[in-house]
Amino acid sequence: MRLLAKLRSSRIFIASFIICFTCINTRAQEGFISIDCGGSESYVDENGISWDPDSHFSNIAGNTTTVTPPASAGSSSPLSKIRYFPGEQNKYCYVFNQKDHGVSKGATYLIRASFWAGATLPYDTQIENQATFKLLIDADVWDELSIRLPQTGREETREIYLSALKDTIDVCLTGKGTGLDIPFISSLVLRPLYVNLTSVQNMHNAARNRALMSRHRINYGAASNDEYIRYQSDGLGDPYDRIWEPDITEPILTTTANVGTNVFDHPPVRVMQRAYESSDFFNISFNLASGTSYHFTLYYSEISTNVTMDGERVFSLQVFNGSDFGSAMLDLFKLANNTHNNVYITYSIYPMYIGSAGVANFAFTKQNGSRFGPIICGLELFQVFDNDMSLGTDDDEVATLKDIMSFFPSLDIWTGDPCLPYAYNWLTCTNDSRPYISTIDLHNNSLTGPIPDFLGALPALTTLNLDNNNFSGQVPKNLLDKVARSELKLSFAGNAYLCNADSNQGFCTINSSSNKKSNLGLIVGVAVGCVLLALVIISSVALYCKKAKPRVPSDNTAPQQNTAKSDSVFHNRSIVSKTNQAQEFTYQEIKSMTNDFRKEIGKGGFGPVYLGTLKNGKNVAVKVLSKDSGQGENEFLNEVELLSRVHHKNLVSLVGYCTEAELILVYEFMANGSLFDSLKGKGLNLTLWKDRLKIAADAAEGLDYLHRGCDPSIIHRDVKSSNILLSKDFEGKISDFGISKSRQYDTSTITGNSQLYTVVQGSFGYLDPAYAETNIATHSIDVYAFGIVLFELISGKPPMIQQATGMGEYIHIVKWAKPHIERGDLSSIVDPRLSDDLNVSSIWKVVDIALMCVDYDRKKRPTMNEVKLELQSALSMEFQIGLYDTTEQVTSFTENIHVNAR
Ligand SMILES: *[C@@H]1O[C@H](CO)[C@@H](O)[C@H](O)[C@H]1NC(C)=O
Ligand SMILES: *[C@@H]1O[C@H](CO)[C@@H](O)[C@H](O)[C@H]1NC(C)=O
Ligand SMILES: *[C@@H]1O[C@H](CO)[C@@H](O)[C@H](O)[C@H]1NC(C)=O
Ligand SMILES: *[C@@H]1O[C@H](CO)[C@@H](O)[C@H](O)[C@H]1NC(C)=O
Ligand SMILES: *[C@@H]1O[C@H](CO)[C@@H](O)[C@H](O)[C@H]1NC(C)=O
Ligand SMILES: *[C@@H]1O[C@H](CO)[C@@H](O)[C@H](O)[C@H]1NC(C)=O
Ligand SMILES: *[C@@H]1O[C@H](CO)[C@@H](O)[C@H](O)[C@H]1NC(C)=O
Ligand SMILES: *[C@@H]1O[C@H](CO)[C@@H](O)[C@H](O)[C@H]1NC(C)=O
Repeated sequence: MRLLAKLRSSRIFIASFIICFTCINTRAQEGFISIDCGGSESYVDENGISWDPDSHFSNIAGNTTTVTPPASAGSSSPLSKIRYFPGEQNKYCYVFNQKDHGVSKGATYLIRASFWAGATLPYDTQIENQATFKLLIDADVWDELSIRLPQTGREETREIYLSALKDTIDVCLTGKGTGLDIPFISSLVLRPLYVNLTSVQNMHNAARNRALMSRHRINYGAASNDEYIRYQSDGLGDPYDRIWEPDITEPILTTTANVGTNVFDHPPVRVMQRAYESSDFFNISFNLASGTSYHFTLYYSEISTNVTMDGERVFSLQVFNGSDFGSAMLDLFKLANNTHNNVYITYSIYPMYIGSAGVANFAFTKQNGSRFGPIICGLELFQVFDNDMSLGTDDDEVATLKDIMSFFPSLDIWTGDPCLPYAYNWLTCTNDSRPYISTIDLHNNSLTGPIPDFLGALPALTTLNLDNNNFSGQVPKNLLDKVARSELKLSFAGNAYLCNADSNQGFCTINSSSNKKSNLGLIVGVAVGCVLLALVIISSVALYCKKAKPRVPSDNTAPQQNTAKSDSVFHNRSIVSKTNQAQEFTYQEIKSMTNDFRKEIGKGGFGPVYLGTLKNGKNVAVKVLSKDSGQGENEFLNEVELLSRVHHKNLVSLVGYCTEAELILVYEFMANGSLFDSLKGKGLNLTLWKDRLKIAADAAEGLDYLHRGCDPSIIHRDVKSSNILLSKDFEGKISDFGISKSRQYDTSTITGNSQLYTVVQGSFGYLDPAYAETNIATHSIDVYAFGIVLFELISGKPPMIQQATGMGEYIHIVKWAKPHIERGDLSSIVDPRLSDDLNVSSIWKVVDIALMCVDYDRKKRPTMNEVKLELQSALSMEFQIGLYDTTEQVTSFTENIHVNAR
């Protein structure tokens, strides 16, 4: 269990919080989104919650009908209308977004869906009196519902806590297309959660935030069986609008004091004011699904004024999950220095696994000598979402699909993940954890206009059926090229206006001088015959980098931008020097800046590197391309053009170049050498984990920029610790990206017509095994290599580790580290040179990231962007005192009085 990061023995922690009597929580529905599905107007219910109809969700389909709400519902309730979806779609989605609903990636939300059909539904179901369908969250199945009719008692609800994976959250219902019943829904709410909630901290403790599904939330000592406590405008209800179900078991203790407001978990005052009290022992037990894990939070307060001394109410809690999970000893009064009405919680810091026993017990026992028995005010039990939430269809595929759908407005009823867990009816996807689209079937859709060429930008697309629409114009060349290479089955029969009269054999000939290309068409991966090598074609046209990469659907009405470049870039040097900062140097200038190539500071793959000094006194690194690098001047200039457009604080920047006599690149000088040298003890003394983490986060940011900030995106292909350089301010920067550096490895080079075909390998030890097998270069080869760099940072060892025993025997760093990690043995892999004041959980987090990066399945690897965000969050752990650090003191305090603490 790697995620159980903290190296501790006791599994239950007690935190105490002092309440502030004067401040009642006044956060009034901040960020609440409350949707009355099928409703027709906005209103405020009796708790003061403002509901809006779902009509503002764009393109929400389906029919609505009125139902009789349950007896428990107030006079105005979202349960008096439903929306149902009788169409044939596989799924129907409500998409919470940033603009309308404030959803932002990484923030945590409570989402709750409610279902109340009343006596009957206005449509038939497959089994009489039972509606069966699935509830989906993003690209995962959240739960399956089987609702019996007539529905009695209270509505069905499903509630989940999750960290948004994107700036949107999709809540979907399966439709008839999946073979299940027509689905319906009554209401949907979204509540932002503060990160200081214990349950949210439990989620964040996992490397990828696991979602939590609420299973029980109980108010012990409730006043009546109808008293469900949720948000209430008087401030005594639940500020997060969690819903607490009543338990009225007696005897009950009550107080009118103001308990429970200003603490991390913000339990409702009304829940904390009442407690169940037993004279000596009680046992709460739950039957739970086997093979899953749970988290719990239990709430207490000493609300009895009859307790006047410590030791008067002392009780133990023992948690049993088939075996002993943990225990704690509580003397609430003593914990609060002999005061009343403070909130205490005990909670699981590690997930509690429920094995075949399928049961969890919470046993409370009065201790010898205690006058009063144990009490409890509230309990929350969460089931950990089985798997990491899926990241869904490949991001580039989703972006391209969005372009396609905005081109054809009639397709915009399709929302939610295109492929997972159920694909749009007109798509077939590859069977990957982050799928690609393999088939698009848009026949019979009355689609009009030209066929957009970005259909050709889906790399795994093998079938495209456009039959029987009203397309006009020519079939884009990139699609025809794919057909010609037998990569695509394309059919477009029954489109009367498509490539008229002189169409040839069903395909249109296209004017090859036409420049009607969108940027999406510029990078095309090509497999050439049976050659083992994947060739990457980078057209030199319109290479440019920008800050972000908004995917603008190509504007077919005004396709003519920049046409002059493809020819001029090689011959007209002024383009290079004018539009970019890279300066052209004469050979004489190079000679004088390097003092006649006096000081060699390194050897690149393609030649030596010299120290130079510019006239302004700045040091530079001067790389001379050896004659046998096979680099032609044109490609060299092309490279200069590319590099001088790439500017980022975490990329080593190009200062200038020279083509006279030799091909020379002049880079910014990095005073502290390479990460590789530092880890070998030849450079900086990297003994602080914080410094290493910072360098990792910097490098990840640089790579993320190459991947996402440049158009076309750049795959580095040779990520390694010796290509991560350190500035004098300890900043990490990526060096040696671009094309030329990789040419040393070329086994096949075809140059022609302003296009470069290069074939590359990474360096030994960093080479993605999946790439070695398939020779298909994707961004994930950089992610793999970066994972190796992370292992180097953690362990201080090189990627190929020489075995102590054998002579000249090496073991790969991942193979070496994995067995230790699986045993939870961090100390065997952490670099002994690291100083002790490190945060163990941030190291575990980086171990987790590194493992994900080197997953053999490239689809399971994170993107560089995700890696960057995770590293930044690990870095922030180093600078923060988290919830656990503050409660730790309290814990040891309670453990002192706690005899059987483990
Ligand atoms: C849904 O509404 C449409 C149009 O209002 C109607 O034609 C259709 O019969 C309804 N479907 C069901 C299953 O009620
Ligand atoms: C929890 O976090 C929120 C937001 O940062 C803050 O307003 C609130 O005061 C915190 N609660 C406590 C008890 O510190
Ligand atoms: C608590 O209750 C469960 C189920 O009723 C029982 O199996 C378990 O032994 C009880 N635990 C204790 C400590 O009495
Ligand atoms: C305190 O004790 C008295 C006498 O036993 C009892 O009547 C009363 O209910 C108790 N109050 C509380 C809050 O326990
Ligand atoms: C109890 O008193 C001690 C000593 O005065 C103080 O340090 C501590 O913060 C108090 N604890 C609580 C929960 O008030
Ligand atoms: C109880 O929980 C712990 C921690 O999750 C787990 O290791 C153990 O296997 C569980 N016991 C049973 C019987 O499931
Ligand atoms: C409480 O006292 C009884 C009888 O004296 C003894 O058997 C038992 O072990 C004690 N329990 C604890 C928890 O000390
Ligand atoms: C998809 O992949 C999984 C795991 O590799 C495999 O179990 C499953 O059979 C595959 N499904 C299809 C339809 O190929």
